[in-house]
Amino acid sequence: MNRVNSIVNAYLLVENGIISAFGPMAECPESPHKSRNMEGKWVMPGFVDSHTHMVFASSRHNEYVMRLQGKTYAEIAAEGGGILNSAKRLGAMDEESLYRQAYKHALQAIACGTTALEIKSGYGLTVDSELKMLRVIKRLKQTLPITIKATFLGAHAFPSEYKDNHNAYIDLIIREMLPRIAAEQLADFIDVFCDEGFFSVKETDRILTEGAKYGLRAKIHGNELGLTGGVQVAVKHSALSVDHLEHVGDKEINYLLNSNTMPVALPGSSFFLKIPYTPARKMIDKGLPLAIASDFNPGSSPHYNLWFTWSLACLYNGMMPHEGFNALTINAANALGIHETHGSITKGKKASLIITRAFDHINEMPYWFSQNHALEVLV
Ligand code: NIG
Ligand code: FE
Repeated sequence: MNRVNSIVNAYLLVENGIISAFGPMAECPESPHKSRNMEGKWVMPGFVDSHTHMVFASSRHNEYVMRLQGKTYAEIAAEGGGILNSAKRLGAMDEESLYRQAYKHALQAIACGTTALEIKSGYGLTVDSELKMLRVIKRLKQTLPITIKATFLGAHAFPSEYKDNHNAYIDLIIREMLPRIAAEQLADFIDVFCDEGFFSVKETDRILTEGAKYGLRAKIHGNELGLTGGVQVAVKHSALSVDHLEHVGDKEINYLLNSNTMPVALPGSSFFLKIPYTPARKMIDKGLPLAIASDFNPGSSPHYNLWFTWSLACLYNGMMPHEGFNALTINAANALGIHETHGSITKGKKASLIITRAFDHINEMPYWFSQNHALEVLV
């Protein structure tokens, strides 16, 4: 977690969008290629944002003010606000408008250095709206120059008409949503919000088992609101990642240590909801790797600037600057299953790079908080 290699005065050769060589400037080969002088700048791997809800209809500034007046996120959700509020608005918006809005958000995220991105559904919660969201994500994959992965999150919340009949909604997910999503190849992964007041461990287990039949590997929302068993069910299903983890005890850490599931902290949502931060220091000291992501969404984390995520992780999750760097690059790529092509400057990987101004030290990157340090982003 705490090692980042760097070369002062280096060259980097890109051919057909792939890093084909790099090393000290003294060893720079004669090249017929176009060259650019990066003197005085830093060249680093692009960020991977492994957890976002980038497709949504509108902001939830009204709930933000309700929270400022003293209501909690859970109270607002229990009254039919929160995710259900976003679902109502998304149901009323056409696919084209949703696409155009998400496209704009994505361009801004790219300008901040995001060169690979996960986007979840989960503001649909009906067959038609979930498909609509996933088609928007598919179109973003086709039109944006970065790598995008789609995650099906039909199990984000129970629509109010299923409040007292959870099984009927889960049946809808399993019998109607999953087969159509698979037929149209709309999802790469499957997610469940496994937490207090949302999906139980048993319900999560059932949905993940069905998802696996379509080859959808799990990326779980777990342990945001309590020690709810999200980690255990994620590990049981060999989930690619388990995300949030504001509540993690020794038992959860031991489960993760014996797994190939990447834990992902989301400091932006802890900051915005004023809830505990994932105990990253403790987890890393016990030998775990960690990724961090923006969780960009209108309810709990309306931000996509991963430089700020990095600063929060250092100040409040107890991470060191080098650990934050790895958490945003190679470990985040791992949490998205794209570590063979993204997340580091490695021969053969995609030349998705951030060019920054000169810093005296890598520690300065999270130190100058809330800024976008990317002068240029190459994808
Ligand atoms: O990652 N925790 C669950 N889902 C989202 C929030 C969704 C919302 O409030 O709109 C999250 O925080
Ligand atoms: Fe999320």
